[in-house]
Amino acid sequence: MAENEGPITGKLVRISGPMIAADDMLGVSMGEIVRVGKMGLMGEVIRIDGETAFAQVYEDTSGMYLGEPVVAQGDPLSVELGPGLLTQTYDGIQRPLHLLKESSGDFIGRGLSADPLDYSKKWTFTPKVTVGQEVSGGDVLGTVPETEHLDHFVMVPPLVSGKIKTIIAAGDYTVNEQIAELEDGTVLTMTHKWPVKRARPFKKKLASTEPFITGQRVLDSFFPIALGGSAIVPGGFGTGKTVVEHQISKYCNAEIIIYVGCGERGNEMADVLDEFPNLTDPKTGGPLMNRTVLVVNTSNMPVAAREASVYTGITLGEYYRDQGYSVAMMADSTSRWAEALREISSRLEEMPGEEGYPTYLSARTAEFYERTGRIACIESEDEGKEQRTGSLTLVGAVSPPGGDFSEPVTQNSMRVSGGFWALDAKLAYSRHYPSVNWNQSFSLYFHDLDPWFREHAPAGWTERRQQGVDMLQKDTELQEIVQLVGPDALQDAERLILEAARMIKEVFLQQNAFSDDDAYSSLDKTHGLLDAVLTFYEECQAALGRDVQLETILGHPIREEVARLRELNSDGFVAKKDAVMEQLKAAMQKLVEDAAA
Ligand SMILES: Nc1ncnc2c1ncn2[C@@H]1O[C@H](COP(=O)(O)OP(=O)(O)OP(=O)(O)O)[C@@H](O)[C@H]1O
Ligand SMILES: [Mg+2]
Repeated sequence: MAENEGPITGKLVRISGPMIAADDMLGVSMGEIVRVGKMGLMGEVIRIDGETAFAQVYEDTSGMYLGEPVVAQGDPLSVELGPGLLTQTYDGIQRPLHLLKESSGDFIGRGLSADPLDYSKKWTFTPKVTVGQEVSGGDVLGTVPETEHLDHFVMVPPLVSGKIKTIIAAGDYTVNEQIAELEDGTVLTMTHKWPVKRARPFKKKLASTEPFITGQRVLDSFFPIALGGSAIVPGGFGTGKTVVEHQISKYCNAEIIIYVGCGERGNEMADVLDEFPNLTDPKTGGPLMNRTVLVVNTSNMPVAAREASVYTGITLGEYYRDQGYSVAMMADSTSRWAEALREISSRLEEMPGEEGYPTYLSARTAEFYERTGRIACIESEDEGKEQRTGSLTLVGAVSPPGGDFSEPVTQNSMRVSGGFWALDAKLAYSRHYPSVNWNQSFSLYFHDLDPWFREHAPAGWTERRQQGVDMLQKDTELQEIVQLVGPDALQDAERLILEAARMIKEVFLQQNAFSDDDAYSSLDKTHGLLDAVLTFYEECQAALGRDVQLETILGHPIREEVARLRELNSDGFVAKKDAVMEQLKAAMQKLVEDAAA
């Protein structure tokens, strides 16, 4: 029997890859963290069977022996929250990578601990409460400038409440110094811990009526999601998932970015670690890392760590959401997490579900996506005080084997996310990027966002979008006819539609992530470019109706002028578009006159 003194300590009776079993663990809880073996590797209890506990271990278990100790730590896997999270790069269990590297070199040693936050750094704290004030979870105790452009709101932790007995004066303090005390003796610092598998509380979910703008034309126009919504980006090997996640991190309208890289190949992660710290924030000109937290698995961490990293990431996201920020979390790729679940489940000898994934895959996926949303933050209600709101948007990459979207991870994620941005191997192969397939992709948010677009986007946004979608639809139908009976079956008017659709694809939908001028497209440019292509179509259609030959119309150099508008940056585009449209009208007018003469 476990003694009452000291932590519960059992002994290793089984080691199976990332899964271990220990006997004499009576009293340990599900989800509790254990230290495994002489190296003290971190693990999490995932099943209890009498006095035997099964745990998944976040580090490589090789070199451990049966009989070594397993020590329960008393708490579930938690993250430490407070100023200093931004700019950090963590592994899945919130160990700062730079500290781990310092202590053990590039190949990170096992069983290491490292403080998640810098305990010696002093932060300039400005109090926002007074002695005698009643406070509860979520109330802002004070603010700290966390980075140049961003205030950190130090909050009363959820589930804590009371009357302020002392509050520290404005000044510089470390995260572990007492900043306030409640009358019941509760001491508050700038940090608190939160278990990653438990969603942080909020007052209520709010309708999402504002779009999550990505600066990517095909997404913002055809398949927009809401701030607080979620989308998945399924795509086979090399179709552009990571580029999409990076583009969105860089240009989206969320204030905070949480980027979770749970890859498996070492070089996948090296990409993130090399690129991200060098990205410039288009909003400030400073480093994007100033409003980013990176969570990446290191290559010597086994599968279980991938699960930890997505939960660590989303908890960090919720924490900034609770401060009133809009947060976007990128997860690349969620399939790696699902594969980890599958591996652990099979080692536990659970009954497998579809394609070997555990039967609880869909429940886990749903619970996870459920943590997104736009919310009213918890805080005490004072009359006249404006309710603080925050949002957490999730863009999850999915890597279906062979690009087959009918597999369980894609299907389960699709059911619980409102946006489906399907990447297409054929498009990627023909270098149509981003390779978002316009027939397969969808967004369930458009209807709710329409009023926002009507009010804030350039006039005609919704109408032009619909015309663009319809044009591509007609294109698909006509292509089928061409395939069946050949191009001669088409009339000139129909050929013009094929041509217009081709321009929509090449000029509007394609967007080069590596072009300084086109990587980001403002709403003005996005709308303006679609409008330009559709105006081109309408002008050509009118000329065709007035006896101008189709060949003459399409051979006119104005077509290239319209197409080249894409190459201008958002400001340059706005300055030039009207002039090109004037030229277009004049050119078509001239063709009509020539034809009549
Ligand atoms: N928007 C884009 N503009 C230009 N090139 C792109 C774009 N998207 C993808 N590419 C090209 O496709 C390549 C592969 O993209 P990426 O690495 O994002 O694919 P992936 O789906 O993440 O691959 P993996 O399955 O290996 O994770 C990029 O290196 C780049 O050359
Ligand atoms: Mg990738």
